[in-house]
Amino acid sequence: MAETHATPEPTRRDFLYVATAAVGTVGALATLVPLFSQMEPDRATIAAGAPLEVDIGKIAPGQQIQVFWRSKPIFIINRTPAILKILQEPQLLDRLRDPDSQYHQQPPYAQNWHRSAKPEYAVLIGICTHLGCIPMFYPAPNPSTPAADWLGGYFCPCHGSKYDLAGRVFQGVPAPYNLPVPPYRYVNDHTLRIGENPPNVTYDLSSIEQL
Ligand code: FES
Repeated sequence: MAETHATPEPTRRDFLYVATAAVGTVGALATLVPLFSQMEPDRATIAAGAPLEVDIGKIAPGQQIQVFWRSKPIFIINRTPAILKILQEPQLLDRLRDPDSQYHQQPPYAQNWHRSAKPEYAVLIGICTHLGCIPMFYPAPNPSTPAADWLGGYFCPCHGSKYDLAGRVFQGVPAPYNLPVPPYRYVNDHTLRIGENPPNVTYDLSSIEQL
């Protein structure tokens, strides 16, 4: 029998999250972010917290897909060698608030310079750590768009927070923490299981600083 849960009163953060989801959706369309179908199980089961398997084999280099796990947007990026090079450059690291992921916003297998289990693929919870908007994906370096000296990353249109393509937040913006990383593991080279850690690792969202 399906479990039922009382719905808590919405908070300001919840309101902003819902209100700005439409903005995020428009942004996703603008940048042609594909919304991939989830392999299984069904939506109700996923919403209840079941792990979610995602085929990452068809994500083009430099592109992002978005899926939902526990009703949260999950960004998965296929990062090119050029992106990985930028993520290690001193002129970027000097502008980040927590370049070494000292705050607990990720599992131990993502506490590294690329914030992921494998450098090629980023897996991030797409919720801004300021007030809960959905940041927009701007992967290409650009001298002025969406911000000055843009090296590629995420821009939150609500109050201007910026993150790089590892979800690391910039200094001088309202968001206090890096984007959270969900638990996940590789089933094989092209299949991720989101919501499940690798063997012998304990991590869940209750241990992070802020979602
Ligand atoms: S919610 Fe993202 S900057 Fe305020």
